Amino acid sequence: MMNQFQFFVDDSRCVKCGACIRDCAVEMLEFDPDREFPHVIPGTEENCTHCQHCLAVCPVGALEIFGRDPEESLPPDSNPDPEEILSLIANRRSFRNYRHENLDAVTLDKLKDMLKFVPTGVNDHSLYFAFVDDVTVMDEFRKCVSDGVSAMFRQDPLPPFLARMSRYHKQLRSGKDVIFRGAPHMLVVAAKVDSPTPAVDPVIALSYFELYAQSLGVGTLWCGLAMAALNEFPELMARLQLPDGYRAGYCMLFGPSDLCYHRAVQPDPVRIASVR
Ligand SMILES: Cc1cc2nc3c(=O)[nH]c(=O)nc-3n(C[C@H](O)[C@H](O)[C@H](O)COP(=O)(O)O)c2cc1C
Repeated sequence: MMNQFQFFVDDSRCVKCGACIRDCAVEMLEFDPDREFPHVIPGTEENCTHCQHCLAVCPVGALEIFGRDPEESLPPDSNPDPEEILSLIANRRSFRNYRHENLDAVTLDKLKDMLKFVPTGVNDHSLYFAFVDDVTVMDEFRKCVSDGVSAMFRQDPLPPFLARMSRYHKQLRSGKDVIFRGAPHMLVVAAKVDSPTPAVDPVIALSYFELYAQSLGVGTLWCGLAMAALNEFPELMARLQLPDGYRAGYCMLFGPSDLCYHRAVQPDPVRIASVR
């Protein structure tokens, strides 16, 4: 049966197991009293968070929603080995050495395409992903920050917070890009200020992005200094063309690296509590 969600159950396949009904987080499905197949309870439509769990949980691929054919979904048996996932996490490193060249277009597209899978609070999915796709644009960002920082350090006397940052100034003056680390690319993730979880969604997206990028052999770096530079120099932030009502959450540098790591680090144990 079709409705505004293009919710469709293939009667010849549905085994009436009720999994879609049980898994609906907003309880908007039930067995149709007449037809005995799952249907959308009239009047609950606006509760839908568009999560598509009903499509994903159906064991026989009998359910379509929003015109999505279950046959087109990635199969769950593509799940990688847990040890491989752990290895990816353990061997993830912060890269501060990059080749001065663009990532190949295929890899860049793969990275962009992955972002549709990242979770967001209340399945809001209103994040804005600003990519610096071209190393020459990153070079413009580098120059703007280097010039801007030099101008700031010409103040006399120096404000105390700047005095504490003189190390960075010296390094920038000597031509070392301590802010953007010579990276050819940057991803800035911005969230709608009035979305359900604007503080955490960009961080989740970048965490997924980092692991997927490193699995593809692409170096990444969470970058607080780049974030500070974006906030300090509005002309840079303006280049990201954030939509109205959006705020940059965090940023990550990335690109092909000219260094590789030959083993994982050996971190200290973390503090773990069992709450009783
Ligand atoms: C939120 C966050 C911000 C960071 N900002 C910077 C930064 O501005 N510059 C930098 O060189 N590294 C930055 N890092 C990288 C950390 O310094 C790095 O995680 C640490 O050196 C340990 O290395 P590892 O990530 O390879 O384990 C940042 C990391 C995180 C998680």
